[in-house]
Amino acid sequence: MREPWTDVDRYAEELLLSPDPILSAALESSAAAGLPPIQVSPSQGKFLHLLPRGIGARSILEVGTLGAYSTIWLARALPGSGRLVSLELNPAHATVARANLARAGLTDRVEVRVGPALESLPRLVAEGAGPFDLTFIDADKPPTAEYFDWAVRLSRPGSVIVVDNVVRQGAVAHEEGADAAVLGIRRFLSRLSGDRRVSATVVQTVGRKGYDGFALAVVDAVAERPLADANGSARRAT
Ligand code: SAH
Ligand code: DHB
Ligand code: MG
Repeated sequence: MREPWTDVDRYAEELLLSPDPILSAALESSAAAGLPPIQVSPSQGKFLHLLPRGIGARSILEVGTLGAYSTIWLARALPGSGRLVSLELNPAHATVARANLARAGLTDRVEVRVGPALESLPRLVAEGAGPFDLTFIDADKPPTAEYFDWAVRLSRPGSVIVVDNVVRQGAVAHEEGADAAVLGIRRFLSRLSGDRRVSATVVQTVGRKGYDGFALAVVDAVAERPLADANGSARRAT
């Protein structure tokens, strides 16, 4: 069955997105290399482009590159002097991604780092990398809470963090029968609810990729805020 939101995505893409041979080639080469077609949709890609443009981002961190489809949208928001670091576990994905980034003319701005993100993220901290103005988390779902924690540590007050796939056809609302991915997202959101370093929300989405959603957070303070104000009044996460 063709869902109405697929038609709306098509309609909105036709109105608001220009034909883009570089992005089309990135999708074609990713498919030809056998990568799973789980990249963000075109409209979501443009959303990920507009967000860093709107905040004037000069540095972006991505966790989960795949064939660099989202990476290209994000990196095109950067000024010439801007930098994007994208973390990818699978060397074959990284090879496809680098070729797609080269075709997009983004090699000077983007670095794809191969390895488990839980190793690459502490290395970035140790190197003194960041702070990143925006982070997009879109890798394997069970360690999302840890990826988010590293992202906050690599942020500054005002940095924006976006997390993909936090709704999963609505499965996130139910613990019973949840798979490892959903349990990972539930653990992330549960930690987020008590995280005094950030203000956050979940926005549900429908479209080509079905029913899912983003979490969006703005970092208030990289170090945890004290439990009480100087005058002793209690604080809550907002
Ligand atoms: N952001 C991409 C899609 C990413 S798909 C886009 O929208 O275009 C998720 C990616 O995360 C896959 O390429 C997968 O290989 C990678 N991944 C899985 N586990 C990972 C890990 N532990 N560390 C880094 N990347 C990982
Ligand atoms: C899957 C992963 C994603 O990041 C996504 O956007 C959609 C699907 C998956 O692993 O099935
Ligand atoms: Mg995703």
